[in-house]
Amino acid sequence: MDSRFHWWQTGIIYQIYPRSFQDSNGDGIGDLPGIESRLDYVRSLNVSAIWLSPIYPSPMHDFGYDVADYCNIHPLFGTLADFDRLLAETHRCGLKLILDLVPNHTSDEHPWFIESRSSRDNPKRDWYIWRDPAPDGGPPNNWLSYFGGPAWTFDPHTGQYYLHQFVKQQPELNYRNPAVLTAMLDNMRFWLDRGVDGFRVDVIWLMMKDPLFRDEPPNPAWNGINPHDSLLHLYTANLPEVHDLIHAMRRVLDEYDDRMMVGEIYLPNEELAKYYGTPEAPECHLPFNFHLIHVPWKAAAVRQLVDDYEASVPPHGWPNWVLGNHDQHRLATRVGADQARVANMLLLTLRGTPTCYYGDEIGMHDVPIPPDMVQDPPAVNQPEIAHIVGRDPERTPMQWDASPNAGFAPAGVRTWLPVADDYAVRNVAVQSADPTSILSFFRALTALRGAEPALTIGAYRSLDVAADDVFVYERRHGDSRLLIALNFVGAARRLDLSAVARQAQVILSTELTGPRQVTLADLDLRPNEGLILRI
Ligand code: NOJ
Repeated sequence: MDSRFHWWQTGIIYQIYPRSFQDSNGDGIGDLPGIESRLDYVRSLNVSAIWLSPIYPSPMHDFGYDVADYCNIHPLFGTLADFDRLLAETHRCGLKLILDLVPNHTSDEHPWFIESRSSRDNPKRDWYIWRDPAPDGGPPNNWLSYFGGPAWTFDPHTGQYYLHQFVKQQPELNYRNPAVLTAMLDNMRFWLDRGVDGFRVDVIWLMMKDPLFRDEPPNPAWNGINPHDSLLHLYTANLPEVHDLIHAMRRVLDEYDDRMMVGEIYLPNEELAKYYGTPEAPECHLPFNFHLIHVPWKAAAVRQLVDDYEASVPPHGWPNWVLGNHDQHRLATRVGADQARVANMLLLTLRGTPTCYYGDEIGMHDVPIPPDMVQDPPAVNQPEIAHIVGRDPERTPMQWDASPNAGFAPAGVRTWLPVADDYAVRNVAVQSADPTSILSFFRALTALRGAEPALTIGAYRSLDVAADDVFVYERRHGDSRLLIALNFVGAARRLDLSAVARQAQVILSTELTGPRQVTLADLDLRPNEGLILRI
């Protein structure tokens, strides 16, 4: 590979949700030794980096996104020694490892918060965001939690409210106090010194709030479903001051060799682009681009989105794409099982770094959760919209084989979330043995991507085609030119691409039909088929 490019540009990031990947000790929850035992599998996917969702000590009110100690490992997942071994093994396999960093909030059991809430004059009082009650005794303003209800909780002991945009056990840090940033940068160094290759930074765009604590205005476009969407989040998100913080975090990464930071940011292109920073004051290596998750799954809409995003990435920025994560309904559920291969072909052939969510490579879908097993806070707090906001369905155990508990945990163990009922047929063992499976397709696709500079570092341009429902684009590097043609519907489509070239070679089909020569004047796409062609 061209040495001017970094691993986080040419490679694929694979997200592992540690609770659900592999249980090694029979408690029904995945752990670090479990992940280590599956590294060969991860390597077989031709990905280059693993991102682990939080593994730190935590009371688990938000499944680890409520961190009680930034510099240790939760006993559920193992020990620091287990972590060091996993990191060493990951590196030995030629893979990178990035951790989830959660700087916006801590757990209410973090020693900083325990001190902060102990008295109004505690030196750590100002490390969190405390406000007096409104004149009527209610919350200081109208800010809302993402997980239902107000973003403020009253602390009777000191008579003030503290801010939390997620569960009330996740108090938000006050980054207007420089000591907080200094402490968080030290937490980053703790892991960078141990050798981690970077961080996925949780809700990085929320880290600064309005110093005047103004009420947020109503959202005129609210669809009446999720109360958090009823306000425009002008004062709790994307404040201009956040960029200084992120630049400071970037400077720490730059003290080390070839580390990276990918920031969680849900914003439109124009705002998202600002999170690259400037060449003089760089910020995120990759500001997560989640647009493919929310776009209507139609060829024209996806093309528009890709073209708009491409146009928005600054010259010093590097694009990236995401189709799923632990907060979003499963890809196969959103686009339908029939389109899952097309969606993966799109993700892995666009220009920029793809992030894949564990299990999507075998086509895992959302798993219905019986009422007594629902545990995700937004679903528990808001039962009426649990089917929309609940995230348990996309966090279920990885399906390894047809044995009880799908090989995720020993037989007879109650797993923390239910295993999908199709696990006996949809699993890694069955699909590895089937050369036509979605897993075989995924491996062929990632191998091709790794072998073709046109796909990793080549230029992108979309093509006009007469057929609706089909998205066609070219990736080009030097003399190497590839066309990608994706059929978004379950009906055959015929294209005339003779303006590009007369003949082409199909080098990969979502149907794994093998290479063939085609005439571009009448290129046939089967229902739900995607093709990669060499011209
Ligand atoms: C975003 C994380 O991805 C999500 O899982 C978590 O609940 C919130 N941030 C709060 O940390």
